[in-house]
Amino acid sequence: MKHRILDLIYKNIGSFVSGQRICEELCISRTAVWKHIKSLNAEGYKIVSSEGKGYKLTDTPDILNDYEITRRLVKNIPVYFYERLDSTNNKAKELAQDSNDEICLVVCSIQQGGRGRMGRMFESANDKGVWCSFILKPHIEPENALLITIAAATAVAKTLETAYEIKPGIKWPNDIIIKGKKVCGILSEMNCETNSINYIILGIGINISQKPDDFTKETAMIADSMYGITGQKMLRSEIIASLCYNIQEVYSAILKGNSDEILKNWKRYTITDGEEISILKNGESISAKAIGINYQGMLIAEHENGSRKEYNSGEISIKRIKNRN
Ligand code: BTN
Repeated sequence: MKHRILDLIYKNIGSFVSGQRICEELCISRTAVWKHIKSLNAEGYKIVSSEGKGYKLTDTPDILNDYEITRRLVKNIPVYFYERLDSTNNKAKELAQDSNDEICLVVCSIQQGGRGRMGRMFESANDKGVWCSFILKPHIEPENALLITIAAATAVAKTLETAYEIKPGIKWPNDIIIKGKKVCGILSEMNCETNSINYIILGIGINISQKPDDFTKETAMIADSMYGITGQKMLRSEIIASLCYNIQEVYSAILKGNSDEILKNWKRYTITDGEEISILKNGESISAKAIGINYQGMLIAEHENGSRKEYNSGEISIKRIKNRN
């Protein structure tokens, strides 16, 4: 019921909704309305009441819950929201065993054991970022799974570009970089048989409103938040809803076999193409130049002798990141 009251208040944002109207539309007593408003304010909403005028939302706080996310979704997607988790990727793996959804979202406000690539930890034990994982069950060959990770990076880039009007760069395969700082990391984990994928967990962590002191010293040297870079405050629920839409779009392009679309978006955001890279093979580091990616998302590298080879993630480190924007 409290969310139906909130619906009415949101619909009339900026003006008062009378208690009488809420009572009549929702068939509840004035005392019940008052109790729900009290409980909403306890959750962090800022609803003022004025004798004779009714109730008004004075500010849209950055509250993250099921309701705030689902009311902003453009396209339906099952959402599993938790206030606190160790890692959304861990929870997603648990849920993936039983879920039949082809795509769904696991999201939390505070993530106490965020995991990064290469077994690293990912700083996210605060409510200042978007910490989420998509569970995907695509009917594609396991060797094409890297393209999903690449596509996810383009979806994040588009989401941030639209919200903040700043152009992000993607460092292959999926770090999102703005003004030389990492604002988002993606950890994709796959469970598969020889020829088929059981599920892919696409874990996405975006730094939204942290200030420099919110990061450890080491992280602050290489990472920043969208607020830190642009000075703009955005609601996490809005970013998540937009991210869902953009992920749904790229995912459906991949299922339709439309990899051209993904490669086109990659070209728009890549900061890796043309860069010098180090390829780590059998403990040895070889220098080459990144030329682009192929239809599976593999990096095409040109060696000093002019020969070209394609590489999967994990084998490569990029020497330099272009400073864009
Ligand atoms: C990286 O840059 O190394 C990847 C970081 C991925 C972090 C996200 S946050 C949501 C999801 N849950 C996790 O435990 N990790 C990913």
